[in-house]
Amino acid sequence: MSRSLKFSLALSAVFAASAMFSACNKQEVAQSKTQPAPIAEVAPQQSKSVVVYFSQTGATKKLAQVFKEARNADEFELQLVKPLPSTYDSTIAEVRAERESKQWPALVNAKLDVDKYDTVFLGYPIMFGTFTTPIYTFLEANDLSGKVVVPFCTYGSGGRKASANELKTLEPNANVTLAYGISNKRINAEGGVEKAKEEVATFFANLETGKTEEMLMGGFSEQRSLTAEDSAVFAAATKDYAYLGLKPLSVSSQVVAGMNYLFVCEMKAFGGPATQTNVKIFKPLPGRGEPEMIVVEK
Ligand SMILES: Cc1cc2nc3c(=O)[nH]c(=O)nc-3n(C[C@H](O)[C@H](O)[C@H](O)COP(=O)(O)O)c2cc1C
Repeated sequence: MSRSLKFSLALSAVFAASAMFSACNKQEVAQSKTQPAPIAEVAPQQSKSVVVYFSQTGATKKLAQVFKEARNADEFELQLVKPLPSTYDSTIAEVRAERESKQWPALVNAKLDVDKYDTVFLGYPIMFGTFTTPIYTFLEANDLSGKVVVPFCTYGSGGRKASANELKTLEPNANVTLAYGISNKRINAEGGVEKAKEEVATFFANLETGKTEEMLMGGFSEQRSLTAEDSAVFAAATKDYAYLGLKPLSVSSQVVAGMNYLFVCEMKAFGGPATQTNVKIFKPLPGRGEPEMIVVEK
């Protein structure tokens, strides 16, 4: 991974939020500001729903298939007129230029027949802390007023909550629900799609029962000092994220089928200024895999 990408990921870890910590282990996911969408009523298996997504390197496409199958939805993959470059560095340069100029990239198929649908599952990779730029093109070309919009994303380290919040701001007349997110590392790992399927099932259950973000955080113990075992879990889960310069300060945990950890950390990405962030980690039951970094988020 290039230095600049890592830097952008680190920035996103500072500013963006993310993820599906709880859902990955049968916990709750929810939205923070608006009332939970009555998704059970508007997107049952038989409802008219569509999965709209963009994917550069395939992670979000995998997740889109999970949503499509879970809800028997139609599929609408956004296609760029001019594909993104094949290297990270040039992709970063191009996406940064788009963001700075707010010139969103042309799509072959920007216009969707939205009238056919009451629910839009909207999928994207996180880029620069929020949804990738073709999503702006799609939003500008379509009126999602009155639709239920269910965001889902893949990311390096985070961006779920930040992207969903931006979506809510841009689409005030849509019912934007809480979002599902998973890191590219987890979905691309062996068994990753199966794991995503389980999490997405939990995600839908959470939508149906109207859980909130606050409810998700219930069940964690108070923050406490790290034990040697906590430190070992943290080191194992974050070994590929050295560029974030994470230093765990305290931890809380939650017993599930395995253990959830919420580490409060100091982060100094590339020796930059120290900020405080939360790192969510899941440790499976013994013999069921290594501790996983779920998300870095504020
Ligand atoms: C230009 C660019 C910017 C990115 N920015 C972020 C970011 O800010 N935060 C993050 O967690 N991941 C970031 N990523 C990682 C992607 O979100 C991640 O690789 C995603 O799973 C790619 O999805 P795709 O395979 O569907 O294209 C970025 C990737 C690229 C290429």
